[in-house]
Amino acid sequence: MVFFVSLSTNSFAQAQADPVQTGEEQVQDEGAGDPAKGKELFNSLCAACHKRYKNATGPALNGVTDRHERGWIYEWVKNNADLRASGDAEAIAIFEEWGGSVMNNFPQLSNNDIDNILAYVEEPKAEAPVNTGSTGGGSSEGGNGVSNNLVLGILAFVLLMLISVLFLVNKTLRRFATEQGVALPVKEKRTPIWKSFIENQFLVLVTAVFLLLASGYFVYGYFMQVGVDQGYEPIQPIHYSHRIHAGLNEIECKYCHSSARVSKHSGIPSLNVCMNCHKSISEVADASSEFTSVTDEYSKEFYDNEIQKLYDAVGWDGQKYTGETKPVKWVRIHNLPDFAYFNHSQHVSVAGIECQKCHGPVEEMEIMSQHSPLTMGWCINCHRETNVKMEGNAYYEKIHEELAKKYGVEQVTAAEMGGLECGKCHY
Ligand code: HEC
Ligand code: HEC
Ligand code: HEC
Ligand code: HEC
Ligand code: HEC
Ligand code: HEC
Repeated sequence: MVFFVSLSTNSFAQAQADPVQTGEEQVQDEGAGDPAKGKELFNSLCAACHKRYKNATGPALNGVTDRHERGWIYEWVKNNADLRASGDAEAIAIFEEWGGSVMNNFPQLSNNDIDNILAYVEEPKAEAPVNTGSTGGGSSEGGNGVSNNLVLGILAFVLLMLISVLFLVNKTLRRFATEQGVALPVKEKRTPIWKSFIENQFLVLVTAVFLLLASGYFVYGYFMQVGVDQGYEPIQPIHYSHRIHAGLNEIECKYCHSSARVSKHSGIPSLNVCMNCHKSISEVADASSEFTSVTDEYSKEFYDNEIQKLYDAVGWDGQKYTGETKPVKWVRIHNLPDFAYFNHSQHVSVAGIECQKCHGPVEEMEIMSQHSPLTMGWCINCHRETNVKMEGNAYYEKIHEELAKKYGVEQVTAAEMGGLECGKCHY
């Protein structure tokens, strides 16, 4: 955090000292972007990973123009991989801070497009006028924390003062009374406070109830987290890259996960499916090739070695199968508890939902990870929001008419179809 702040002040100082080498023109452009156009671009290109005011796969973008120079942002967005490869310390630092998650490059965007996006993300948050875009996101949060603590501190101090003043007044009055010869009532021996507390059954009851509620709250909070494995990214026995297969080589998801269309499970392909191609692909093209899969992080040797692991597993010596196999145990990533029922074909074939809607940008994942929380709330939310696809489905067209009449709407959501009934998802 301290590092981050110093980083941003550094770049700020730089911006003051020597104007961005890309010229005055951009500085004038600052804030001149069109937020409406920016919103469109942001939603279609960036929203998969960025939110404006909250961290997601990537950092919250509000306040980004305070954290970096505009010129730097242009370069980053257009080609962050090149920027990092050029040894840019700022770029490498963010990349590492975000655990090496890879952001796409957007060479198709012009500086003007990026200005529009920035104009949109720098719009101050509506509900929280305190956090205007002009203060950096991080530092203003810090500021709030400090001021809260300050207020609490002052309150505590005032309370202490009050107590000591009362004590002093009491003492002075007593001394005054004795001097005047006023007889003060003799103090009986008080029962200690804890004893009177125990004797007061009502107080005990209230306290017990309070403690129960408080602990219940924390236990609930704890259990709500248990079993939510969003972002789970185990190490697989063979480094298999969806980026290379589904992304660069555009192999259809269903070529490998063929049962997603017709059954409850998508399943992981058997190694025979891999060998359909890998009998002839024993190594990846090297870095000089136009079609290379090689990146800064993963070398050709690394990938070739992984293909060799596939060969060892199926017992392929380059010409024929030797019969010596070593089964590969893929680590399962997505896993609902047994008491919940989820069916792929219902969602993929019947509802026509894209895999990416639930599994995220798989074609960009070098290493597969769990994108969605897979909680009940997640299922239910989507059922509330998603309209059932009725067109061209004879079975639905009749029900549609009736339901649409019942709810007085044009479109019927999955929820209105019964997608909220417990029994649909729980055995
Ligand atoms: C596939 C996910 C993904 C997409 C899509 C994406 N980003 Fe990013 N972005 C990231 C990640 C992750 C980081 C953090 C740095 C890293 O790990 O490379 C980041 C960092 C940034 C930063 C630096 C922010 C900072 O606080 O330092 C900017 C600016 C940025 N992205 C802008 C954009 C814009 C504009 C778009 C859309 C045109 C976009 N990103 C699309 C994932 C993404
Ligand atoms: C060439 C075969 C192949 C293609 C094409 C492919 N996958 Fe996979 N997929 C695999 C293998 C092998 C695994 C298991 C290893 C891993 O998790 O990376 C896997 C794992 C997964 C998982 C995680 C399964 C779990 O354990 O929970 C998901 C989700 C997934 N793939 C979705 C997709 C989507 C979406 C696409 C299309 C964009 C796709 N796959 C394309 C082979 C493939
Ligand atoms: C439709 C053809 C096809 C299928 C099916 C296929 N691959 Fe590949 N595989 C490729 C291509 C193409 C490359 C990249 C070659 C290059 O970059 O030059 C590749 C690269 C690889 C690599 C090196 C890069 C990486 O992902 O680590 C491994 C390992 C690999 N495949 C494993 C598998 C496994 C395991 C399966 C089965 C689950 C599989 N492949 C199925 C075509 C396929
Ligand atoms: C509506 C959300 C949704 C869509 C759309 C979806 N999945 Fe899944 N996927 C899930 C959930 C939830 C699980 C966990 C299922 C379980 O544990 O029983 C899962 C699990 C998987 C698995 C792990 C093995 C299995 O079958 O349980 C693979 C592989 C997979 N999905 C691939 C795909 C592919 C490929 C597509 C697109 C053709 C796709 N998914 C579309 C939600 C979805
Ligand atoms: C991306 C949106 C989306 C998500 C996420 C999603 N669903 Fe669905 N689901 C749908 C839609 C749309 C339908 C309606 C399909 C149809 O046309 O019958 C549906 C239908 C169903 C049905 C059949 C309901 C019926 O009335 O017959 C079940 C069961 C179901 N989903 C379970 C789940 C479970 C369990 C999860 C979470 C693990 C989940 N869904 C997550 C969109 C979603
Ligand atoms: C659209 C599918 C769906 C419907 C409808 C649904 N559930 Fe669930 N429910 C799930 C899934 C998925 C989980 C597992 C969540 C997890 O592992 O975090 C779950 C978990 C639970 C749990 C375990 C506690 C938890 O949050 O992990 C309870 C209890 C539960 N559901 C009760 C109900 C009741 C009662 C209803 C009817 C009002 C209902 N569910 C309707 C999908 C559904």
